[in-house]
Amino acid sequence: MTQPGLVGATTVTRAAVLGAGTIGASWTAWFLARGMTVTVWDPRPEAEAYVRRSIADAWPAMARLGMVANASPDAWRFCATAENAVAEAEFVQENAPERLAIKRELYARLDTAMPADTVLASSSSGLIMTEMQAGLRTAARFAIGHPFNPPHLIPLVEVVGGRETSPETVKWCMEFYHHIGKRPIHLRKEAPGHLANRLQAALWREAISAVVSGLASVEDVDTAISAGPGLRWAVMGPHMTFHLGGGEGGITHMLDQFKPAFETWWASMTTPAFTEETCRQLIDGVAAEAHGRSVAELVRDRDALLLPLLELVAKRDREA
Ligand SMILES: NC(=O)c1ccc[n+]([C@@H]2O[C@H](COP(=O)([O-])OP(=O)(O)OC[C@H]3O[C@@H](n4cnc5c(N)ncnc54)[C@H](O)[C@@H]3O)[C@@H](O)[C@H]2O)c1
Repeated sequence: MTQPGLVGATTVTRAAVLGAGTIGASWTAWFLARGMTVTVWDPRPEAEAYVRRSIADAWPAMARLGMVANASPDAWRFCATAENAVAEAEFVQENAPERLAIKRELYARLDTAMPADTVLASSSSGLIMTEMQAGLRTAARFAIGHPFNPPHLIPLVEVVGGRETSPETVKWCMEFYHHIGKRPIHLRKEAPGHLANRLQAALWREAISAVVSGLASVEDVDTAISAGPGLRWAVMGPHMTFHLGGGEGGITHMLDQFKPAFETWWASMTTPAFTEETCRQLIDGVAAEAHGRSVAELVRDRDALLLPLLELVAKRDREA
């Protein structure tokens, strides 16, 4: 295992995007908006047109957030091979399908093809880097940089190294993402699903149980979040929210008062299985809640509220 000096984390001008589906295309738009040139590779030939459309769709939203000053949506090219795409890259964001075998096969090729001082971050939603990097000669420069969909709008990136990732690589990723306007957090150890997806999974487990047990409809479960605690979660996380829930006594009083209640609720929770019937209930429930709106229309409705919210969050962060 070797690790020469890395390129400067705050001076990257050339990024490579490998795998250009939902996440890779969105990352491409973000890197372009931040003034970089981007080389893109995807084995699917139609991916080039998809990336072009995705950049065009993403650009107005990023412009509204003030993120595209001095940037060009055309500063990218589609490459014939992964090796071509990374040949001159100073940073590589990997967005291949969420399959360990695919990532390992790709990394084995990149091990020698990437310039020696270049870091690769994987968008993987929950694979373990230790398993993906095993056997690589340059494993030290491979880390997880997990975004949230769509990466061109949602600030969070989870950074975590595998057993062989060097502390310098993790530090580099934190600096890089911070520099390009993301909100990276450093996870101290590996876990399937990293952190935020585990939090989502915990909530979704209970949301599905509520539907399956007949406690509430799919639509009412969604309203319970979007009209309730979900409104506060964009402002502060669960711990700080409960600190306020304790009134003047804060989290100390909150714990004194609600410890027994939470322990009783936790003890009553169960893990649902994705049976055919459960899946059917969820699919029918979502169809009823969508009231005939297509996914594209729902995305538009979401973004109509998400963009002003992101503008407020960005303003708060600038003034903090
Ligand atoms: N969709 C999400 O909400 C989301 C969010 C965060 C992270 N991720 C992660 O991002 C990665 C990509 O997910 P996605 O949702 O964009 O999937 P996707 O199916 O939309 O795109 C995957 C792309 O990879 C391409 N591909 C196929 N084989 C490949 C290979 N060997 N090397 C490189 N590319 C290859 C496909 O042609 C496709 O365009 C996954 O690791 C996933 O866990 C997804």
